[in-house]
Amino acid sequence: MFDVKIIREDFPIFSKQSNDFVYLDSASTTLKPQFVIDAVNGYYSQYSANVHRSIYTIGEQATAAYEGSRKKVADFINAKDNSIIFTKGTTESINLVAYAWARKNLKEGDEILLTEMEHHSNLIPWQLCAKETGAILKHIPFNEDGTLDLSEPEKWFTDKTKLVTVIHQSNVFGTINPIKEIVKMAHDVGAIAIVDAAQSVPHQKVDVQELDCDFLAFSGHKMLGPTGVGILYGKPEILETMNPFLGGGEMIKTVSLNESTWNNIPWKFEAGTPNIAQAIGLGAAIDYINSIGLEQIHQHEQLLLNYALKKMQDIPEVTIYGAASERGAVISFNVENVHPHDLSQLLDNDGIAIRAGHHCAQPIMKKLGVSATGRASLYLYNTKEDIDRLCESIVKTVNFMGGRD
Ligand SMILES: Cc1ncc(COP(=O)(O)O)c(C=O)c1O
Repeated sequence: MFDVKIIREDFPIFSKQSNDFVYLDSASTTLKPQFVIDAVNGYYSQYSANVHRSIYTIGEQATAAYEGSRKKVADFINAKDNSIIFTKGTTESINLVAYAWARKNLKEGDEILLTEMEHHSNLIPWQLCAKETGAILKHIPFNEDGTLDLSEPEKWFTDKTKLVTVIHQSNVFGTINPIKEIVKMAHDVGAIAIVDAAQSVPHQKVDVQELDCDFLAFSGHKMLGPTGVGILYGKPEILETMNPFLGGGEMIKTVSLNESTWNNIPWKFEAGTPNIAQAIGLGAAIDYINSIGLEQIHQHEQLLLNYALKKMQDIPEVTIYGAASERGAVISFNVENVHPHDLSQLLDNDGIAIRAGHHCAQPIMKKLGVSATGRASLYLYNTKEDIDRLCESIVKTVNFMGGRD
């Protein structure tokens, strides 16, 4: 039974903040349950040794917990353990592919295919890569409703396309893109397919084998885990062909003064002491999500999303961006005659935290003809009362700013 009241008791922030605290910014980063905080504290207070090198009890305990987390992540997305690389976050995961795969495999005139709705983290690494390799960037446009315009695939997927990299769930529109079809279109022209799953893995079942993607990136802090840990999934046969991304301890087999050989995957890509506590915390976050059930969480969010969309659409001064039929619980919006930064500040006075800004997606803002939007994003701990409070506060803001007669 999904009981949001009981779930909220697992999140200490609700008892530390005032009673009227409403958190609607989970697409940016999520709140943390005590279970995750305890796992991180447990490592630091009970067995805070380094991993993979300490031949004593707490060192072995740390290695077992760290590698245990890798196994939990692998199971969560239906992957093999050796295909899971711990990184700092989605941004580093995508950069890893851009440096260690793309710079080696792309040449002048090759095409990198993206979309106009990418997060900056999936735009800039490819701009840098294109500059160095001479590859060309192409972007699939989005329609007015925030869905991708895939009406002319032959225009985008050509024999020059070597790499396709697409956001799974938009952090602005909430749109869930048809990623399995996109991966297939990439493979049909001989390209590799990368998925930015920062906004999807925390909220819906993602199965890398079913998607058949070559790489998939996401962040721990957007799924109840600590900041400073992210994941890059890569097909083992591709990871084997890649050079290391960073050099240093742990990623080697043998080292001489002028030459070295590399460790097996995935450790070949984990140079130096990793974010041990954070990885252990991510494992705990996955345990926590599994104990509630990702499907239940998804259903709860969808109910709240539909409730919120209806209520917000009933406020005449509100414009909502994006209307995809398949979407996650992220709502970008503007309020007539109110700058989103002012809106966010006025909502904050009522204890409500939303995001206001360009959401690291300036090209989307440009195409929408706005400098910024407000964004409310939901997770398992949100309630209908949170949405009611948001809407009341928006109406109050409209009145305060003299928007209504
Ligand atoms: C779709 C998407 N991709 C990438 C990122 C970057 O994630 P991180 O900052 O954790 O590296 C975000 C974060 O907001 C995101 O929403």
